[in-house]
Amino acid sequence: MTIREGLSWAREELQEACERPAFEAEILLAFHLKKDRTYLIMHDMQNIMNVDAFQKLIQRRAAHEPYEYIVGSASFYDIHLDVEPGVLIPRPETEILIDLVAEIIESENITKIAEIGVGSGAISIVLARKFPQLHIIATDICDTPLKVAGKNIETFGLSKQIELCKSNLLDEVVENVELVVSNPPYIAEDFLLESNVIDYEPKEALFGGRVGDELLKQIILDVKDRNIKYLACEMGYDQKETLQDFVNQIGVEYIKFYKDLAGFDRGFVIKLNESE
Ligand SMILES: C[S@@+](CC[C@H](N)C(=O)[O-])C[C@H]1O[C@@H](n2cnc3c(N)ncnc32)[C@H](O)[C@@H]1O
Repeated sequence: MTIREGLSWAREELQEACERPAFEAEILLAFHLKKDRTYLIMHDMQNIMNVDAFQKLIQRRAAHEPYEYIVGSASFYDIHLDVEPGVLIPRPETEILIDLVAEIIESENITKIAEIGVGSGAISIVLARKFPQLHIIATDICDTPLKVAGKNIETFGLSKQIELCKSNLLDEVVENVELVVSNPPYIAEDFLLESNVIDYEPKEALFGGRVGDELLKQIILDVKDRNIKYLACEMGYDQKETLQDFVNQIGVEYIKFYKDLAGFDRGFVIKLNESE
């Protein structure tokens, strides 16, 4: 099978699973051949080496497996991160959370923060690269994210700045921090997700409880109990009202909600009251 024939076959196979079948066919073939996409155009009559392995990659994608798990890498912010099943693929909307946190770190000269639910390390790694003086304690309750985050942290030479800790929320974090950032699981148990998410991504990274915001509320309480000044979290598009009611009950200095690029409510920054 030539490159031209392979691309045409792959495009057909990917019609149903992908929004951009031609593009994904090209990037998967380029990945298989360890070449870039321009190579495919320049050598379109060349035979594909080990064509069975290429066809298996395409079949995995046609069965809705996320592209990032197939190639073992996800692009996020200004970097590429290793990912594998068991670790959430970082999403572009989380970049907004990072920018908001970066503004607070800068304006308040913050030097120590914690992240709850490190996953691939996406948030902590981008923040550590932006602020070389920042120390981050990053927790996760699952082993695979801690392993993958550890590998990514090492790749970027950030082991001195980011400390990983297996912990439920902040339970095992003993140091004082000035800010907590988290993109926790926040989806309701019975929410219908697309096959590429529900069949492949880890449930521990997706579901926040029966209603979905249970873990978010627990994080708010923990941060308040520990007299931490700031909390910035991602949340579900339909959780603004219940979270606003919740913080009204417990009392905070302010809560500011933010939207994602599609215009959906997507997260919040809370400033807690100084200790009473
Ligand atoms: C939505 S993912 C976010 C991963 C990464 N921070 C990102 O934004 O791409 C949530 C992460 O929280 C972890 N997690 C779930 N429950 C937790 C808990 N109780 N304590 C700490 N981490 C938890 C999951 O294992 C998962 O890695």
